[in-house]
Amino acid sequence: LSVILTVDDAEVELAVYERLIRAVAWPGGAENVSFLSSADALLWAQSHDVDLAIVDYGMPALDGLELIQRLRGSDRHRETPIIMITAALEHAVRYRALELGASDFLTKPIDRTEFIVRVRNVLASSDIRKKLAARDDELMLREREAIHRLAGAAEFGGRAAGSHVARVGLYCGAVARALSLPLPICELLTLSATMHDVGNVTVPQSILGKPAALNSEEREIVTRHALAGHVLLQSGESELLRLAAEIAISHHERVDGSGYPRRLIGDAIPIAGRICAVSDTFDALTSRRPYRDAGTVDRAVEHLAKHAGTLFDAAVVNAFLAALPEITQIKARHEDEVR
Ligand SMILES: [Fe+2]
Ligand SMILES: [Fe+2]
Repeated sequence: LSVILTVDDAEVELAVYERLIRAVAWPGGAENVSFLSSADALLWAQSHDVDLAIVDYGMPALDGLELIQRLRGSDRHRETPIIMITAALEHAVRYRALELGASDFLTKPIDRTEFIVRVRNVLASSDIRKKLAARDDELMLREREAIHRLAGAAEFGGRAAGSHVARVGLYCGAVARALSLPLPICELLTLSATMHDVGNVTVPQSILGKPAALNSEEREIVTRHALAGHVLLQSGESELLRLAAEIAISHHERVDGSGYPRRLIGDAIPIAGRICAVSDTFDALTSRRPYRDAGTVDRAVEHLAKHAGTLFDAAVVNAFLAALPEITQIKARHEDEVR
């Protein structure tokens, strides 16, 4: 069922729209919700999705232009198709309406055929958009699931069921938001960071799952996972994989230059790597390992604070601490499934 919002201060006109909308005979059915006052329409539109809004220009109080501007100002109606009804010669008004985001115009007096065709076209494209959006959502869900599974497979010989990489991704997203990075970047980082340890596929299971601390030779083999992950991911063309490659190679760098593999210092380490370093360390300290129990959140936080500015980027540690309530929620929601 498609929803059409009609707003006009003249009851006669609303009745005309109602009749014409019925004449459109939209296959999925069209519900017409009409308002005599734009203020009432706006209030209703705050909590309802609309497939098409038809608004009169000349109305008392809030005119059609202001109504369009306010609808466009809300997240819900940023994309809603809006047709404005004007008199034939109101060119200046039309230009202004276009600037404010009107999709199309109809001229008074309404031409029956024109109205029906316009409305049908708008509903058809709105339908297609809805279907595409649903498919995007599903693709994204599948992509996310595939990445989690594959990234998790590299983790501790699959023993931790991938919860570590999922948590680290989510922690990174929370820290990035606390640093006020642009939201699309925060989302990209959340997913990219789940791949930070994919290079572990090159590390023997006997080392990854060893129920004791590693000796120096084994540690040296483990350090190769940073570069190996980068090599695996770097030929990717998407922004997602490029960022993942950057994180893979930089998440064990430390700001004082004591990290690996490139011994980068300070801001020479990409910000995504500095964020992942803090998130990854926090998760390592608060997770169970084959050879030790999980440490407490307080101890992990203490460790991060103590090494802010030496091992870890101080601003990133601050952001992590600011996001701690969210971080502990994520942790509680994504406990390891111990097998
Ligand atoms: Fe790592
Ligand atoms: Fe890790």
